[in-house]
Amino acid sequence: MQNNQPSILLVDDEPANLRVMKQILHNDYHLIFAKSGAEALRLAKEKSPQLILLDIMMPGMTGLEVCKALKEDSKTAPIPVIFVTALGDEADEAQGFELGGVDYINKPVSAPILRARINTHLSLVQADLLRATRLQVIQRLGRAAEYKDNETGMHVMRMSHFTKVLALAYGLSEEQADNLLHAAPMHDIGKIGIAASIMLKPGKLTAEEFNIMKSHPEIGAEILGDDDSELITLAKSIAMTHHEKWDGSGYPKGLKGEEIPLEGRITALADVFDALTSKRPYKEAWSIEETMQYMKDQSGRQFEPKLIELLERELDQILAIQQQFQDH
Ligand code: C2E
Ligand code: SIN
Ligand code: SIN
Ligand code: FE
Ligand code: FE
Repeated sequence: MQNNQPSILLVDDEPANLRVMKQILHNDYHLIFAKSGAEALRLAKEKSPQLILLDIMMPGMTGLEVCKALKEDSKTAPIPVIFVTALGDEADEAQGFELGGVDYINKPVSAPILRARINTHLSLVQADLLRATRLQVIQRLGRAAEYKDNETGMHVMRMSHFTKVLALAYGLSEEQADNLLHAAPMHDIGKIGIAASIMLKPGKLTAEEFNIMKSHPEIGAEILGDDDSELITLAKSIAMTHHEKWDGSGYPKGLKGEEIPLEGRITALADVFDALTSKRPYKEAWSIEETMQYMKDQSGRQFEPKLIELLERELDQILAIQQQFQDH
């Protein structure tokens, strides 16, 4: 490792200003210096700094123009820009925020303010990164849970695409349907906590084994945790409610009808449809005809009647998804 201090690009046409900032910051950060807008753009692309401190008044390209160009390039757009402005440039400051700047600092810079602002914005970047990473890890875990009882992981692909089709047919927006598509793969994440000897048992589970199996919704909800991300909140609700039944005979809570959140009602149908038409360690695959007969029998019992109607209406799309994501 050469240097793991965060790197900051300092941009100012006045060497004296760069020297002042260097004195304040050089112990804590890896500093990169640019004396013009053009040089700043080049170095931002080349070095990918974590933060940019940008002077506004510069000959040639102004700081505002540099910021606009940074935000137009997908490689440099996420890097936070803090403007460094001479006192009294209120008009420039307003425009700076419009162009995507996150903050401004007045010249002459005060050491404690400069350090505090930089700290704040670097922490925000860190928090965003952690959130994105956590989401990715959890999505992969969703697949890992399925690998445990089906070799290809194609079940999560099929059932999550079914949920999108059903959500759109139900009248949810494209955005809500996409959220379901991305959250549904985590529905069985709690199976990670169930012994493989139960999961992979070739035959029927004993009552005691099935009781253990029935803890997977709550284990899943615990793994997903409380999070401010919309996707994880939705995934947690799905993990918790995908084995509830419309008539109140499901688990873990025995919720009934619309007490079951819509995402849970939709996922339950998608999950069972795919479980029935697939081979499992404990069962053979059922034909479409047998499966549809079962689904219709369960309208108003296991499933919301409106959703069974939509399943019949959208069956062509559902079967196309099955074709697209076949087990190998
Ligand atoms: P899974 O294999 O993903 O099945 C999901 C749901 O599909 C089941 O939830 C059930 O509602 C439905 N389903 C699957 N196969 C059948 C079937 O042959 N007949 C009917 N009527 N419905 C079926 P459920 O019952 O709450 O089971 C949850 C999980 O418990 C299952 O997930 C599976 O991993 C496990 N499991 C359930 N029964 C058995 C079993 O007899 N043997 C083994 N080894 N595991 C079982
Ligand atoms: C898929 O893997 O195709 C659906 C799940 C997702 O997009 O996260
Ligand atoms: C969703 O956000 O996809 C479902 C909304 C609901 O539960 O009504
Ligand atoms: Fe489940
Ligand atoms: Fe499943």
